[in-house]
Amino acid sequence: MGAERVRIFDTTLRDGEQSPGCSMNLDEKVRLACQLETLGVDIIEAGFPIASDGDFAAVKAVAAECRDVTVAALCRTSEQDVRRAAEALRGAARPRIHTFVATSDIHLEFKLKKTRDEVIDMTRKAIRLAREFVDEIEFSAEDATRSDPNYLCEVFTAAVHEGATILNVPDTVGYTLPNEFSDLIRTVRERVVGDRTDITISVHCHNDLGLAVANSLAAVAAGARQIECTINGIGERAGNASLEEVIMAMNVRADRLPFTTGIDTREIYATSQLLSCTIGFGVQPNKAIVGRNAFAHEAGIHQHGVISNPLCYEIMTPESVGVPTNALVLGKHSGRHALALRYAELGYTLNHDELERAYRRFTELADRKKRIYDQDLLSLISITSAPATMLNDSEEWARAAVA
Ligand code: KIV
Ligand code: ZN
Repeated sequence: MGAERVRIFDTTLRDGEQSPGCSMNLDEKVRLACQLETLGVDIIEAGFPIASDGDFAAVKAVAAECRDVTVAALCRTSEQDVRRAAEALRGAARPRIHTFVATSDIHLEFKLKKTRDEVIDMTRKAIRLAREFVDEIEFSAEDATRSDPNYLCEVFTAAVHEGATILNVPDTVGYTLPNEFSDLIRTVRERVVGDRTDITISVHCHNDLGLAVANSLAAVAAGARQIECTINGIGERAGNASLEEVIMAMNVRADRLPFTTGIDTREIYATSQLLSCTIGFGVQPNKAIVGRNAFAHEAGIHQHGVISNPLCYEIMTPESVGVPTNALVLGKHSGRHALALRYAELGYTLNHDELERAYRRFTELADRKKRIYDQDLLSLISITSAPATMLNDSEEWARAAVA
């Protein structure tokens, strides 16, 4: 029997975008969505249409543009929320309505001011209404990991009864631990899903204790088959599970995590760079997989080992995640060929005029700046309509870019 497929649900444009400093305009969202499609995610959550006209327009535009992935729209359980999500998704090739309500007692008492029965009723009505518009419905039990497991299973059972086929178990506040989370996933599997093969358990983990990736992987080992995550791990507070870390953990440790996904790992770095450049900040240098130092070896003993055999200290190659390993350093003496090559490594093939324009701007920048980073190059070809943004070595870049 082959390895089982895990679906990758990307919520960079929704959970990621709603975190401070990560907002994107419409063009930026569509551009990132196209890159996510190239990366190979299965589902793009493009926004929360009732939240703003901008989110509504983003879901609509992404649904119009991205025809090879499922596009999801988030909504609470109220009638107007569901209708707004359905309207935004009209015309999508593969629409999914993602409705959610909290199930923990603390949320019921202090936020929703509803009883447990009322929440079940809200769940039922929302899914029944959503079914009038789309075939695929995901239901999330917000704060699932702090909910009474018996009640959680009751709500999920009601959701399945009404036609939801994806049951999402969010660790909304990043509270759970890997072994505890796998127990919960097993409970949901045994008590709600049973032998139904048309129901998928999904997980959505936040990183408040730095455990989002570990919890997501523990959940998959326990039977979850959809992981919700974001590029660079952006998202509410400490962020969501980072897509690149989840994917590379499954890839490098396929011996223990024998699952497949549709992700083309060589597109990871370009996607991470595109997001960083769009929102105006990069990841920390030591960030796993996509940080500037992720493949750098400084200590002499490590350098010696890597030169003798990269496997001494490298568990994956930079090429496998699309990190350019080109030894060419781009600076004021570099020519068009080197520039075109680096753009190609970043996923952009420039035509003659685009390359000329980029080269002119590149030489101007190189006159003022010692090192040109990939983020600088992406800004030079105006992948965002926003003004040039500040990234890793921000002050130098800002001075040069606005000049
Ligand atoms: O963290 C969370 O609970 C969410 C849900 C809306 C899925 O983002
Ligand atoms: Zn979330």
